[in-house]
Amino acid sequence: MKRIGLLTSGGDCQALNATMRGVVKGLSNNCNELEVYGFEEGYKGLIYGHHRLLTSDDFSGILTRGGTIIGSSRQPFKLMREPDVNGLDKVEAMKQNYYKLRLDCLVILGGNGTQKTANLLREEGLNVIHLPKTIDNDIWGTDLTFGYQSAIDIATAAIDQIHTTASSHGRVFIVEVMGHKVGWLTLSAGIASGADIILLPEIPYDLDSVCAAIEKRHKGGKKFTILAVAEGAIPKKIAEKGKKEQRKAMEKMLEKYPSVSYKLAHDITERTGYEVRVTVPGHVQRGGSPDPFDRILSTKLGVYCAQLIMNNEFGCMVATVNNKIVKVPLEESAGKLKMVDPEDQTVKLAKYMGISFGD
Ligand code: F6P
Repeated sequence: MKRIGLLTSGGDCQALNATMRGVVKGLSNNCNELEVYGFEEGYKGLIYGHHRLLTSDDFSGILTRGGTIIGSSRQPFKLMREPDVNGLDKVEAMKQNYYKLRLDCLVILGGNGTQKTANLLREEGLNVIHLPKTIDNDIWGTDLTFGYQSAIDIATAAIDQIHTTASSHGRVFIVEVMGHKVGWLTLSAGIASGADIILLPEIPYDLDSVCAAIEKRHKGGKKFTILAVAEGAIPKKIAEKGKKEQRKAMEKMLEKYPSVSYKLAHDITERTGYEVRVTVPGHVQRGGSPDPFDRILSTKLGVYCAQLIMNNEFGCMVATVNNKIVKVPLEESAGKLKMVDPEDQTVKLAKYMGISFGD
């Protein structure tokens, strides 16, 4: 008999359902009796005891379904130790709800913040396993997160679509790609779609270099330029400042603009006279069905998680390292961000073929 809890926390992405299906199918195929409790809307459900018993029907036909069948919400890690508005001790409440259901393990699907809380629960003595979800691919200790590849497909398709209009009108186009503070998604989608300029948070940009790259293309006879810009892209001048000043300078820079791409568009036009348009695919990048790659990845992660539960091994993240599914202790990975290395081979090869990173 195994009794597990499932929760999906933070921003959603493709393959959350596919991953949970992998866990449940892996378990139900290998233990006599299984009880699965789904906590609704992430940690909120665990704190307030909002859960429901899920049956095999719940996991049928969800391999291809986006979103999450149990809902998700953002519950910032930094507030977990603070009482809620009614003075409830959230950590204690989560532990009590876990014990009340006599769970063998709590399976937690989420990104970096979610992982920090999972680690906190481990420190508090709960059996937890973390499954790495995010289109940002920024979880330290795993080469891949599920959702990332599907988001690459969508961001790439968005930039592909822009190509035709950019060439018809001879315009400069900026496509702003999600990714929070890291540039994995922009780097991949930028290369996959043949973007001319790729701007990442990890490689702060210089406006002169960006404009020079555009001018060079135009002088070479190209009538349009496409920039893939990460939502966290940052100008060199601001990146050189300390953390606190950096935040203030970014806030000031964006006072009049919805995001960095609009400010950049304004600056490029002012400097070069070119007409610039901005496209922001936004949450579309997290939506819809997982692609086949993510379906396979999430199934493997989920089934490996089931194996860990059957072996009573907890306190870890199920990760992908060098194409193998492995377990990584939560205390090793929690609180660390995996960023693009500016010296990464992919970046170097892209530069060698003439893609500008604006540095
Ligand atoms: O972490 C996933 C992500 O989509 C980021 O790429 C983005 O910065 C953020 O979530 C958006 O968050 P929200 O859904 O709260 O607007």
